[in-house]
Amino acid sequence: MLHDAARYGEAFADVYDDWYGAAFDTDGAVERLRALAGPGPALELGVGTGRLALPLAATGTQVVGVDASPSMLERLAAKPGGSAVTVVEADMADVAEALAAVDGVPERGYRVVYCAYNTFLNLHTEHAQRRCLAGVASLLASDGALALEAYVPAPAQEVPRTSLDVARVSTEAVVLTATEHDADAQVVTGQHVELRDGSVRLRPWRVRYVTPEQLDAMAADAGLVLAERWSDWRGRPFDEHSDSHVSLYRLEGPR
Ligand SMILES: C[S@@+](CC[C@H](N)C(=O)[O-])C[C@H]1O[C@@H](n2cnc3c(N)ncnc32)[C@H](O)[C@@H]1O
Repeated sequence: MLHDAARYGEAFADVYDDWYGAAFDTDGAVERLRALAGPGPALELGVGTGRLALPLAATGTQVVGVDASPSMLERLAAKPGGSAVTVVEADMADVAEALAAVDGVPERGYRVVYCAYNTFLNLHTEHAQRRCLAGVASLLASDGALALEAYVPAPAQEVPRTSLDVARVSTEAVVLTATEHDADAQVVTGQHVELRDGSVRLRPWRVRYVTPEQLDAMAADAGLVLAERWSDWRGRPFDEHSDSHVSLYRLEGPR
């Protein structure tokens, strides 16, 4: 049976680069991460097909990437420069244990651990999110940082219980997005439904959204304090109108 943590990556690996490769400010993120990481080591949680890890490694930073999906990691490894990123197939909820079990991968002392584009929210229970943050805290160098990008959720009462949207249309296919919202659990379960002549393909996903304040509280419980919060990787100010955030956490005190 497919491991729960691998579900998203296995469902999206074949289309991820086509659908999302150009959708983000990759250059801005890599510039920020290089400034934070220097020579490294840097650790990406949910490294996927290497959108960020590959260009970051190309700047000379030592990069380790964790991902639960073998199909995502295969695609990363097949790209030019793929061998420059050390990959570990594991659930990021247990990242510290996973790295400790692999030879040749730094077990601590990371200058930056980063998790981009809502990937942290793929951990769809509070328990898993907390475990991940505790693991990150144990991996950071004493002056290292966790950089985490996520969307700012709308107030729960404004999120409909179910929704159906058109995500993509081409002459060959239409992709619909269907969602169900569990406000108590702060969980949205979705399906990208790809309709082609004679076939239907379901691509499931699930996120547990958190407000920036909830994230700060969970991070604090893991010994991480908010150092900076921007609305994007380029450092544009975060305010009450921002629909996403890049938050930088540092260890609370000396180890
Ligand atoms: C939205 S993609 C982001 C990929 C890449 N970081 C980027 O920004 O393009 C999310 C990635 O996280 C991985 N992922 C999801 N849940 C995970 C988990 N619990 N542990 C490890 N990887 C996970 C997926 O397999 C996928 O590759």
